[in-house]
Amino acid sequence: MAAGEVCVNGAAALHPEMQVDERADTVALSGVTVSGAPLYLMLNKPRGVVSATRDGRDRTVLDLVPPEWRRKNLFPAGRLDRDTEGFVLLTDDGAFAHRILSPKRHVPKTYEAEAEGALLPDTAERFKEGVVLWDGTRCRPAEYRELGRLPDGAVKAEVVLTEGMYHQIKRMFAACGGHVRALRRMKIGALELDPLLGAGECRLITPKELEKILF
Ligand code: URA
Repeated sequence: MAAGEVCVNGAAALHPEMQVDERADTVALSGVTVSGAPLYLMLNKPRGVVSATRDGRDRTVLDLVPPEWRRKNLFPAGRLDRDTEGFVLLTDDGAFAHRILSPKRHVPKTYEAEAEGALLPDTAERFKEGVVLWDGTRCRPAEYRELGRLPDGAVKAEVVLTEGMYHQIKRMFAACGGHVRALRRMKIGALELDPLLGAGECRLITPKELEKILF
């Protein structure tokens, strides 16, 4: 593919008078898709990658997208910390992203956390009531379910949030006496991270799966 080359549905567009349907046809300029049906990707973000479209220092989630899905307006619908792994949804559909992220919709996000330290015995109740962070902020009610203990005594727990504040889970655990040492997002809405996706891999989300996000 030459720089400046325009492709429509994968074939070089050699005639300027060619008709395209902006919403149905996929148009690419120099290998980057600039129009077509909206794209929805599920990415299994590894640690050390930032949830941004650009970064001067670190690899971004967009750097992990294979060339055939690179698009001008692709962005992560919601951020995970650099050291958090798991499900990141990438899309170029701004309206859909807004629906997932809107504080009014409360789309649940499910995480698995590994925490060390002396967690308060009433941690689950505190999560249910709404944890009060060190700065006085009260979180929305959340779910906390202990999944088990690791050989070194650390707790493994499932947490479901319906809001997304900065470092929220880490700060909620800190307010309950714990320290999160590993965090992984497993679900957005009712759509689970595909267990077949290796760290750093992504795949298309099917229309049926999309419905599970805003169920
Ligand atoms: N809560 C956190 O503390 N970090 C994340 O990346 C997501 C939720």
